Amino acid sequence: MSKPKVLVTRLVPEAGLNIVRENCDADVWESDMPIPRDELLRRVRDIEGLYALLTERVDAELLDAAPKLKVVSNMAVGFDNIDVPECTRRGLPVGNTPGVLTDTTADMAWALMMAAARRIPEGERYVHEGKWKTWGPLLLLGPDIHDSTLGIVGMGRIGQAMARRAQGFNMRVLYYDDLVPQEAVAGLGAQKVSLEELLAQSDFVTIHVPLMPETRRMFSTERFKQMKPSAIVINTSRGPVVDPKALYEALRDGEIAYAALDVTDPEPIPMDDPLLSLPNCLIVPHIASASFKTRSLMSTMAADNLLAGLKGERLPTCVNPEVYNR
Ligand code: GLV
Repeated sequence: MSKPKVLVTRLVPEAGLNIVRENCDADVWESDMPIPRDELLRRVRDIEGLYALLTERVDAELLDAAPKLKVVSNMAVGFDNIDVPECTRRGLPVGNTPGVLTDTTADMAWALMMAAARRIPEGERYVHEGKWKTWGPLLLLGPDIHDSTLGIVGMGRIGQAMARRAQGFNMRVLYYDDLVPQEAVAGLGAQKVSLEELLAQSDFVTIHVPLMPETRRMFSTERFKQMKPSAIVINTSRGPVVDPKALYEALRDGEIAYAALDVTDPEPIPMDDPLLSLPNCLIVPHIASASFKTRSLMSTMAADNLLAGLKGERLPTCVNPEVYNR
């Protein structure tokens, strides 16, 4: 029996790629760079399964170009690159990779928070630039993390993982989330507050909301003005949740002290973006889930979703389960 045709839009960890290659007739875009849009539209013509990354826009145009498509499997927990309502309308299940990257992403948010507070990037530059002449009583001072107040915006899986880490640092934890059930956060020692209260009281504000119309540009000039001038903002969610111009002005004008970003808008950040000119903004290239183990697990989860969709079975992790009620 012939194997189903699928497109894998980049080289992904072997564990997942091997599953796809064994079970499918796989066309793999083997480049470090995303597949160009016209090439993508050309290569989806005959496929039944799409194994995509967050760099691919899966929209009506792409779905029109792929009339045989049975499943879209995203190797990411976030799925803002996919027009999910459009997939649902067409009866197409969409898979993502929740859970496996929760702690890895929280580890990264924590690392960014600690690097920002304790001025690790500046310290590293200082040494490499030959400026380290003596021990200095006033050299590179920063705020303590322990005993401070952490504000978690978005108390889903990753927000909760941040709250667990904060317990070990004896932090006071505030959170803002209208959707998460109280039972889910019981035992985390976190206090639910309004966004205004969280911003006014937190020493560290860490962002863990998904990108949706309601959260786009949630962090605006007004929000930065509500924060402490000493506040450190960490974003490992999605770049467009923060208004980059407002962030730049807040950092430049001392409305807040520092930002540590794993995500930007756009990505990659252009080299002439004003945020890159600031000494108080640390930016890394969207690597929060980038541990060996987690990326491998994400790749196999996405492969399992793809295979299930090809067989017409329910995806193990489906973002639009309503597709099965039609
Ligand atoms: C990465 O950003 C993801 O959504 O998995």
